[in-house]
Amino acid sequence: MPKYYIWTIGCQMNKAESQHVAKYLEFLGYEAAIGLHVADLVMLNTCVVRQSAEGKVLGMLGYLKGVKRDKPDLSVIVTGCFVDSDVERLKNNFPHVELFFKPGDYEGLLSWAIKQGIDVPHDITSLPLDKSVAVSALVPIIQGCNNFCSYCIVPYRRGREKSRPVEEVVCEVTELVRWGTREVILLGQNVNSYGQDLPARPDLSNLLAEIDDVDGLDRIRFLTSHPKDMSQQLIKTIASLDKVCEHINLPLQVGDDDLLKAMRRGYTVEQYRQLVGSIRTNIPDVALSTDIIVGFPNESEKQFDRTLAILEDIRFDTVHVAAYSPRSGTIASREYEDNVSPNIKKERLNRVEAAQTKIAGDINSQLRSKIVEVLVEGSKEGKWYGRTRSNKLAFFKSSNDCLGRLIDVTITKTSPWALQA
Ligand code: SAH
Ligand code: SF4
Ligand code: F3S
Repeated sequence: MPKYYIWTIGCQMNKAESQHVAKYLEFLGYEAAIGLHVADLVMLNTCVVRQSAEGKVLGMLGYLKGVKRDKPDLSVIVTGCFVDSDVERLKNNFPHVELFFKPGDYEGLLSWAIKQGIDVPHDITSLPLDKSVAVSALVPIIQGCNNFCSYCIVPYRRGREKSRPVEEVVCEVTELVRWGTREVILLGQNVNSYGQDLPARPDLSNLLAEIDDVDGLDRIRFLTSHPKDMSQQLIKTIASLDKVCEHINLPLQVGDDDLLKAMRRGYTVEQYRQLVGSIRTNIPDVALSTDIIVGFPNESEKQFDRTLAILEDIRFDTVHVAAYSPRSGTIASREYEDNVSPNIKKERLNRVEAAQTKIAGDINSQLRSKIVEVLVEGSKEGKWYGRTRSNKLAFFKSSNDCLGRLIDVTITKTSPWALQA
């Protein structure tokens, strides 16, 4: 049997798509290789959200050039956000790559497989599932993004928003549950604009309500929510549906209005604060996570202090922080000079991380001696692990088979990153 190896970086969307392609390749008669060197086909699923990610992709492409020299039969295919619309240029620059296909463009993969003489028996968009499904499964519900935040390359690479019909998503979730999935994580760059492009204009609340009715499913999560599109209706829906977990990923980016404007985020700090207030009033035990960018062009020390201040004030459960990285083709890269020095970016990043480690440590320590419900996703080094409804990772020991079960555990030890139970 020919073997495949998939290398994936980037967001959960990429992870979901890699899982889908893996399934498809298995359908076509490939089997998973234990490493890149024993594979007949290598797929890179790429990210270019920051220069550091793009650097990793270029590194892998360079490395594979050498591998291919020694092993000319190796097929290299590339997908993900590295693939822009100028595929001819990519092919010229990387002649050792056989196929570049845009994220989610399974037609491209299909035509390639047909050209290889592979007998293609099935439509890749609706693959039959089997018992290898995960306890917690990723389910993309909307592709692309219409927002054009000034720093972000995603809309250029993923195109405009395209929602999957409600029935299609519900059908996939039902099928996943039939094979053993207990939790679904609904994915999109902006899940809050789900359905706007569909004829009946359903919204995320409608979709959540339909999925909540799927028998045998225990939990529903979704990400990422854009603050400007988060409606009161959605907040009420999250509060009222039993299976929807009390965890919201709500990227703030910065705590300064002028910077938010330059970023084209579409909300002010005050609006964001009010939104968080309303979420916390309606969903008392909610956990909040956020994304922060430090060192956006012209970010002054004062402006950065405002970001730190709002982090101290809101006290998020998790903060993902990144240093601004100019991306060619974006509005910010055209309009602003990348004028915050790498040292200052690094220092600001460290300050956010230090502040957040303390906050997350404090929040988690309040869970000590508490009983929480964990959905068990797997085992590692003799311990079971799973997540609480608030998305905190917890480890515990048990001699029973706990996989896929909801278990009440008592928290014994906490850290800013995980819980022991
Ligand atoms: N659609 C989601 C996530 C997009 S990318 C959202 O709107 O939040 C994930 C995160 O990467 C963003 O939230 C942002 O914080 C960060 N990011 C995007 N472009 C960036 C850039 N050019 N430099 C640094 N961080 C960036
Ligand atoms: Fe990028 Fe903004 Fe779209 Fe998120 S909402 S993917 S940050 S353009
Ligand atoms: Fe990266 Fe594309 Fe996701 S740039 S973060 S893989 S949408």
